[in-house]
Amino acid sequence: MSETCLSVILAAGEGTRMKSAVPKVLHKIGGLPLVCHVVRAMQAVSSRKMIVVVGSEAEIVAAAVRPFVADVAIVEQKKRLGTAHAVLAAREELQKSVDDVLIAFGDTPLIEETALADARKALKNGADIVAMGFRTNKPMGYGRLVEKGGQLIAIVEEKDANEAQKKITFCNGGLMAIKGKHLLSLLDKVKYHNANREYYLTDIIPIGAAEGLDIRVIEAPEDNFIGINTRAQLADAEVIWQNRKRQALMLAGVTLQAPETVFFSYDTEIADDVLIEPYVFFGPGVKVAIGAIIHAFSHIEGAIIGENAEIGPYARLRFGAHLKTGVKVGNFCEIKKTEIGTGAKINHLTYIGDAEIGAYSNIGAGTITCNYDGYNKWKTAIGERAFIGSNSSLVAPISIGNGAYVASGSVITENIADDALAFGRARQVNKSGQAKILREHCTLIKQGKKA
Ligand code: UD1
Ligand code: CA
Repeated sequence: MSETCLSVILAAGEGTRMKSAVPKVLHKIGGLPLVCHVVRAMQAVSSRKMIVVVGSEAEIVAAAVRPFVADVAIVEQKKRLGTAHAVLAAREELQKSVDDVLIAFGDTPLIEETALADARKALKNGADIVAMGFRTNKPMGYGRLVEKGGQLIAIVEEKDANEAQKKITFCNGGLMAIKGKHLLSLLDKVKYHNANREYYLTDIIPIGAAEGLDIRVIEAPEDNFIGINTRAQLADAEVIWQNRKRQALMLAGVTLQAPETVFFSYDTEIADDVLIEPYVFFGPGVKVAIGAIIHAFSHIEGAIIGENAEIGPYARLRFGAHLKTGVKVGNFCEIKKTEIGTGAKINHLTYIGDAEIGAYSNIGAGTITCNYDGYNKWKTAIGERAFIGSNSSLVAPISIGNGAYVASGSVITENIADDALAFGRARQVNKSGQAKILREHCTLIKQGKKA
C-alpha cells in the first residue's frame, strides 16, 4: 500500500478500575504494554506515523512507545470529553495531509493485523469511513451498529439505545478507518451530548451518511475488540494472546506438549523442531534455534539458545545467557550474562554469572561463580575443554585456561594456566581405626557410663 497512513491511538482514559499507580495502557500482556500491542498492529499494516492521545503521564507513555515506533507524537487531552474530542486533541497533526487515518483504542490490544488490513483495503476501494464490527451474544455496553438497507447509518451507544436497538447484536469494536481528507470536517460537526457530557466519535457515521459519504463495516472476530478495564479482563486478554501465540508457533513447526502451560512473550522467537515440555515460561528477549529441547519447568528470559541445545528441567536462564550449539544446561542451574561455547555442559545445581565458557567444557555439579563482591560484578573466563570439579567456587575475576582441570570442592582464587590441574582445598587426613574408637567412646557417653 503506497498511501500514507496515520494512526491515532486513544489512551486518555484514567483506568481507575485497574486500581493501579501505573497508567492502564502500560499494563502488560505477553510482556508488552497494551498500547505497544496496538502500535505493533498498526505498523503491521504500514502505518508509520502514530499519535498517542494521553490524559496525563505523557512522558512515561512516550518512553514505553518510542522503542517501537520512530515517528510518534504524544498529545495530551486535558479534559476527558469523549472519543471525538480525544481525536481532536491531535488537530495539529491531523491538519497535515495524509491518505488514511486509523483510530484505535490503547486499551484494546488484541486487534489483529488482518482486521486492520481489511479496513485499509476498504478505504482503497472507495470507502470514506470504515467502522469495525463484531457479532456477540453479549452486546451489553457496546455501541450498536444500526443499518438500513444493508448500509450503516448510525452507531448508538448502550446508554442512548432504545429497546429495539438494544437487541442488536452487531456491535461497534471502536476502531475506525477514515479518509484523511474528511476527518477534521466530520469531527468538527460532532455535537456535544449534553446528557453524557461527551463528544462521540461514533457520531461521524450519521454526519457522513447525511453528506453521502461511502460508509462501510468490516467484520472481525469478537476477541479483536476486547477492552481492558480491570485486572480480570487483563488476565482474560492474556489467555487469548497466549493462545494465539501458541497456535502460531505450533503451526510454524514447534512442538508444545501441553500448550496451555507454556507462556511466551511478544518477542519470543522459536525455530522449527524445537520441543517444549510442559510448564515453561519465556520472558522477553528469548530466541531458540532449531532442534533445541526445553524440558519442563524452565524459566527463560533475555537468552539465546543455540541449535540442538538442551535446557532443564528446572533451568533458569537470565538476560545475557547465550548458549551455542549443543550446549546442555540441566536441573537447578541458573545462568546470567554468560556465553557458553559449543557442546559445553552445565548439568546440575550451578550458578554461572558474568562468565565465558569455552567449547566442550564440563562444569560439575554445584559449581558457583562468585561474581559479586558486594560492590562490583567480576568476570570468570573458562577456556575450552576445561573440567570444573563438583562443588567448586570460582572467585572472580578469574581465568581458567584451555584444558585446565579444577579438583572438586576447590575455592579458586588464582588464575589457572592451560592444561594445569588446580587444587584449592584443605588436604584430607585419614586416621586408621579412629572411627571405631570414636564410636565406642560415644556409646559409653550415651549409656551414661562416661561423662
Ligand atoms: C466506545 C465506543 C463504542 C464501542 C466501544 C468498544 C464511542 C462513543 N463509543 O465506547 O461504540 O462499542 O468503544 O469498546 O466511541 N478516550 C479518550 N478520551 C476521552 C474518552 C475516551 O482518550 O475523552 C479513550 C479511552 O481511553 C479508551 C477509548 O477512548 O481507550 C474508548 O473510550 P471508552 O470511554 O472506553 O469508550 P466506550 O464507552 O467503551
Ligand atoms: Ca471502553
